Amino acid sequence: MDAGFTRYTAATGIPELKKAICDAFLRDHGVTWKPSEVTVSNGAKHCLHNVLVACCEPGDEVIIPTPYWVSYSALVELTGAKPVLVETREQDGFCLSAAQFRAAITPRTRMLMLNSPSNPTGGVYPVAALQALAEVAVEKDIIVLSDEIYDKLIYPGHEFRSFAALGEEVRKRTIIVNGVSKAYAMTGWRIGWTLAPENVSAAINKLQSQQTSNPCSVSQYAALAALNGPQECVAEMCQEFVKRRDYVCGRLKAIPGLSFAEPGGAFYVFFNVASYFGRPVGGGTPVTNATDFCTALLDRAHVALVAGDAFGAPGYVRLSFAASMESLVQGLDAIEKFLIGS
Ligand SMILES: Cc1ncc(COP(=O)(O)O)c(C=O)c1O
Repeated sequence: MDAGFTRYTAATGIPELKKAICDAFLRDHGVTWKPSEVTVSNGAKHCLHNVLVACCEPGDEVIIPTPYWVSYSALVELTGAKPVLVETREQDGFCLSAAQFRAAITPRTRMLMLNSPSNPTGGVYPVAALQALAEVAVEKDIIVLSDEIYDKLIYPGHEFRSFAALGEEVRKRTIIVNGVSKAYAMTGWRIGWTLAPENVSAAINKLQSQQTSNPCSVSQYAALAALNGPQECVAEMCQEFVKRRDYVCGRLKAIPGLSFAEPGGAFYVFFNVASYFGRPVGGGTPVTNATDFCTALLDRAHVALVAGDAFGAPGYVRLSFAASMESLVQGLDAIEKFLIGS
């Protein structure tokens, strides 16, 4: 701000930031993108909206594995396209199989939306599972929109592979969304980016220049500092999250009637609470669904979780461990008392 970077910038981002994004992608994932394939926007959510508006039209179908991040289906609907929800299972780590993907494809299928590591499940697709999906995408010529916003939050025993790193034929059909919100805990700065083949980028750029112009100039310079600065803080944050994940999972495992797939990335545990339905948890009236469950937990135990219905997975609730250890201890004590005392 002192240097005067407070005016309009190029509508789709300053060249220095586009270069830093390309450099970081090459460093982290071994794939070269050109600055002309980058659009910088107001957060990853804005990127997802841009991509969908640029690529989809009424009548198109977009395949979304459930549980999905809450905005996915609404963002698809905003374009007039139809979200095609495909259920994945806890016992499969909430991963969509190639067979499920293939079975969901119709002549109207335009795109598959993928999110690994996932919000809300914390699931990380194994590389072989991604490769199997990629083969189908290439064979059927379907765009894959890969939301990689949690790529830096990967826990021991799990490996992150960018969808764009699965081969040149795959990359031609891949659109990557990422940003500074999670890796650098810069949620409020509102900077995200899209990496897409040049024809898609050109369409997104036209759209953004009419709709919003540039993302905040100051935030772009902050994002540049994050990407070009020392990266040790990211690994330190991830190590801290491992401790929190282990603590939260350990506590939840000790509560009878809950089940979950241990998160391999991101900062969520998505656990099944259906065995408590029909029971008067927390000493109140019986709860019949996840929304009731969360309301009762908030009212009586003062803990806020998000009901799985919002993610297309009734029966589940999402706990975020992006909170201090102190809050997590307090919250889990309260959840335990609420459920075991009932
Ligand atoms: C899977 C996923 N994609 C995108 C976003 C949006 O990120 P941003 O805050 O950069 O818009 C989030 C935020 O929670 C998310 O969980």
